Amino acid sequence: PGERPENETEKGLRVQDKGFLNTAVIHSTITYIDGEAGVLRYRGYPIEQLAERSNHLETAYLLIYGSLPTKDQSKYWETEILRHGTMHADSEEFFRSFRYDAHPMSMLTSGFSMLGSFYPEANPSLKGQRLYTDGDAASLATMDRQIYRLIGKATTLAAMAYRVRQGRDFVTPPTGLSYTGSFLYQMDHLGEENYVPNPILEKALDVLFLIHADHELNASCTTVLQTGSSLVDPYSAIAAGCASLYGPLHGGANEAVIRMLISIGKPENVPSFIEAVKRREKTLSGFGHRVYKTSDPRSFIVRKTADEVFKVTGKDELLETAMALHDAAMKDEYFIKRKLAPNVDFWSGLIYRAMGFPLDFFPVLFVVPRVVGWLAHWRQMMLQEGGVKIWRPRQVYVGAGKRDYVPADERT
Ligand code: ACO
Repeated sequence: PGERPENETEKGLRVQDKGFLNTAVIHSTITYIDGEAGVLRYRGYPIEQLAERSNHLETAYLLIYGSLPTKDQSKYWETEILRHGTMHADSEEFFRSFRYDAHPMSMLTSGFSMLGSFYPEANPSLKGQRLYTDGDAASLATMDRQIYRLIGKATTLAAMAYRVRQGRDFVTPPTGLSYTGSFLYQMDHLGEENYVPNPILEKALDVLFLIHADHELNASCTTVLQTGSSLVDPYSAIAAGCASLYGPLHGGANEAVIRMLISIGKPENVPSFIEAVKRREKTLSGFGHRVYKTSDPRSFIVRKTADEVFKVTGKDELLETAMALHDAAMKDEYFIKRKLAPNVDFWSGLIYRAMGFPLDFFPVLFVVPRVVGWLAHWRQMMLQEGGVKIWRPRQVYVGAGKRDYVPADERT
């Protein structure tokens, strides 16, 4: 309604790119993906080599600072991160106020935001200046402290979100364990007395954390950068990323895969499910990717890790259905034509289920490692040459022209 006069038409060339299919918003040196060839590299290192030879914290250092750490750097880095796992006592009160059935992702998102309230030094606006400047040792040290805290406390927040629903006390992060070992210890998720993490499961979780640590500008990372571009503190930016990851098209997909497999039940029901997907009545969760047009290279690593885990936990009863579904989709013309192949989430849910994590906790297991990638991109943006430019896209306005207000009793 309302005709728009010529002089109100928006001027200039504006490109509409729904879903950002072709829009690059930053120059980056962090992660390289070739979606056609199924290649993923962190700072130039192939993901397969890192999964085989590195560990999550070492790779985190690589992602954030650009090179593999020396032995001394590694020791310092790990010590700082694990030391920063402890929480302020008041945060326990905050967590206890959640309902017994609160979704862990809601708690985690709030938890990251809450952390910001404890560290006002991270909020540049309080000082009326850009806090983080490359080459300025004091500002870089402040930035590093937020990085240690966020990576260190990610596991603690996640474990708190897990335990609060069970009405159990929170556990102080232990000393002498690895990052994933400490996480499993804090979760004590099987409820055993004096729980000691199984080394095979601890290693498997570490590999899963490593391959989930970054994936360039996915929806959640973009959200972190979009939010961070206003120069807000990193806790608020990470909370925003966490909220974005929660959706079923992104981090909620591994949970959706298990629900899908449960609904399919036996392998003999796979063909009718595939037909329903082709009629667009269902989605094949864990398949398809915006960037990969072949198998996601991480899916092979996850598949291999699954076999290691099943040796300890026993095979998941849904594995055969998952394999039948995978094989049927990979040779079906519908999926071949659209270049739909398994993404990282197709197999990861089966591992988490076998390890005893509840379904709605799966996205949390994605956020904890992804905090690393979000911070790597945030740091890169904050320190980029020329400073940060606020991310403010434009729209193409297609609404009404100027109209005059009509009082309620005169409206028809
Ligand atoms: N099942 C069935 N059909 C699919 C699927 C799927 N999983 N994914 C895409 N398609 C179809 C689309 O319907 C579309 O068909 P059309 O061209 O006939 O209309 C075509 O394939 C292209 O798909 P788009 O939706 O345009 O691809 P887009 O890049 O926008 O979406 C996404 C990517 C969201 C990942 C999509 O593939 C999807 O929904 N997959 C299932 C959810 C999932 O596994 N998400 C995890 C992503 S990875 C991660 O976050 C770690």
